[in-house]
Amino acid sequence: MARLLYIEASPRKERSSSIKIAKTFISEYQRTHPDDVVETLDLWNTSLPEFDGHVIDSKYVILHGLEHTNEQKQAWKAVEDVIAQFTNADKYLISLPMWNFGIPYKLKHFFDVIVQPGYTFSFSPEEGYKGLVTGKPIAAIYARGGAYGAGTGMEGYDLQKAYLELILGFIGFSDIQTIAVEQTLSPPKTYDKIIAEAEARAKAVAASF
Ligand SMILES: Cc1cc2nc3c(=O)[nH]c(=O)nc-3n(C[C@H](O)[C@H](O)[C@H](O)COP(=O)(O)O)c2cc1C
Repeated sequence: MARLLYIEASPRKERSSSIKIAKTFISEYQRTHPDDVVETLDLWNTSLPEFDGHVIDSKYVILHGLEHTNEQKQAWKAVEDVIAQFTNADKYLISLPMWNFGIPYKLKHFFDVIVQPGYTFSFSPEEGYKGLVTGKPIAAIYARGGAYGAGTGMEGYDLQKAYLELILGFIGFSDIQTIAVEQTLSPPKTYDKIIAEAEARAKAVAASF
């Protein structure tokens, strides 16, 4: 029995294109992997620990090889709990809207919490940076109002996919499947076609995930 963690990054819920495709993915995944468990992490209904000065102090204490005070230990435990929920999964699905060419701030907050030395990556002078979340697949559903694919002239503006792939690669992911939902601001007829194509792709990825 594998555990699939679904990370949801749009606040638009039933109006969200990324969530719509994620639901199709999950239902096909459950149909084809009946023994697996799917857990949802809705970043808009989850209270992540603030990454403020206090928590950053706790992070630097680790970086400098020192011991946490009791207060720092407690603050750091909240970070460790979020990391554990993430690293305990066997497979991942993430759905995200493009916001100002990048990712929504709630998702950036999540990465600021989970990307930690000794937990999701390591560093040594001999080996440099090494991702620690290895051997696990992730599927990413990218919703965006515009088009950013090859030949659009907008390729360089796509910091949504570029950032996600960079940060996931940094913490160890090498198997990243892409499901794009582009031009979601199109009129209904075109929109329905875009959704149908993304759903077909989501089903194909889910069935063999
Ligand atoms: C705050 C905000 C910023 C956005 N910025 C962009 C953008 O830079 N480029 C783009 O193509 N679409 C942009 N959009 C449109 C969304 O990417 C698009 O509506 C997408 O379908 C949202 O995904 P969702 O429906 O899953 O929430 C933006 C939407 C919002 C709400």
